Amino acid sequence: MSELPTLAIIGPGKVGTSIGILAVHAGYPVVAVAGRTKESTNSAARQIGKNVRPCSVIEAAQSATVVLLCLPDDAIEQVCTSLAQRKKFLERAVVVHFSGVHSSTILSAARDCCQCSVASMHPLQTFPTVDEAIKKMSDTYCFYEGDERAIPVVERLAKNIGLIPIRIASTSKPLYHAAAVMACNYLVALMDSAIMLAENAGIDRKTAWSALEPLVRTTLNNISKMGTISSLTGPIARGDLKTVSRHLQESALAQGHIASIYRTMGLYTVEMAIRKGSITQRKAEEIIDLLLGSDNSHT
Ligand SMILES: NC(=O)c1ccc[n+]([C@@H]2O[C@H](COP(=O)([O-])OP(=O)(O)OC[C@H]3O[C@@H](n4cnc5c(N)ncnc54)[C@H](OP(=O)(O)O)[C@@H]3O)[C@@H](O)[C@H]2O)c1
Repeated sequence: MSELPTLAIIGPGKVGTSIGILAVHAGYPVVAVAGRTKESTNSAARQIGKNVRPCSVIEAAQSATVVLLCLPDDAIEQVCTSLAQRKKFLERAVVVHFSGVHSSTILSAARDCCQCSVASMHPLQTFPTVDEAIKKMSDTYCFYEGDERAIPVVERLAKNIGLIPIRIASTSKPLYHAAAVMACNYLVALMDSAIMLAENAGIDRKTAWSALEPLVRTTLNNISKMGTISSLTGPIARGDLKTVSRHLQESALAQGHIASIYRTMGLYTVEMAIRKGSITQRKAEEIIDLLLGSDNSHT
């Protein structure tokens, strides 16, 4: 096995600091860290290890054969292009970013100006703090893509810091990231809307979540055990038109977009119930009419 490459980290935030700490632990020489401010750069350097030099972004880019751009999504391309056009990357270095939505093509200036290879690696987990990131990084799936010369480098880095690497097509990144957003952020939004409805029913927020949480956990366990289709229960899966109708009447009074969430999720649930074979096509059409508001016979 070849020697581990030198790493430099640009972007001393949650991902940059935690990847740095885990990389040092895995034996990588992390030689430099850089950010926008001295405070965040020095703080990350202290946490990552004593041999890490806090320095400017340009010095960091010049100091390692693998440069990790742990920057906010919107800053990655601009920082990379600015460094590349001034030839600040080492020739043939590997330049990597961690965004879920963008592919490595946003790093193409590094390839064009400095003959670098480029890649992206996205740990599929939510990291609210550095401590949480370090705890959760191991056994987290990491989807990566990029130039052939960069692929073994990011695959090895991912494995060495405990991630489970899976290669993805560069063109699939936006859809892959949309899936992650639905599973994570939209789950939070869905839980909040359920709590809101419970509050409208006169149950206080804390009690509402305490009561809903076991239902949510059991549902997630069911999905793990038997998949989504077999886990689907409830009025739409049973074809209980009148129940859905009562829900629509009452949720129409709720605040914000809750009624439209109910309708949109309901329409998708009808598709699942058809796939499950628990309702007929005719029943499905009746429920769809109800959810689209084009049937008043049950309201
Ligand atoms: N956190 C997550 O849950 C998570 C999970 C998977 C992937 N990611 C990806 O990881 C990347 C980094 O996310 P993060 O959560 O670590 O963000 P973060 O905690 O906000 O850290 C971003 C860091 O970049 C620095 N920075 C911003 N603009 C800069 C510039 N122009 N030059 C130099 N440094 C700059 C910031 O400096 P200041 O400290 O001065 O603001 C900050 O230290 C993103 O692409 C994100 O999509 C995040």
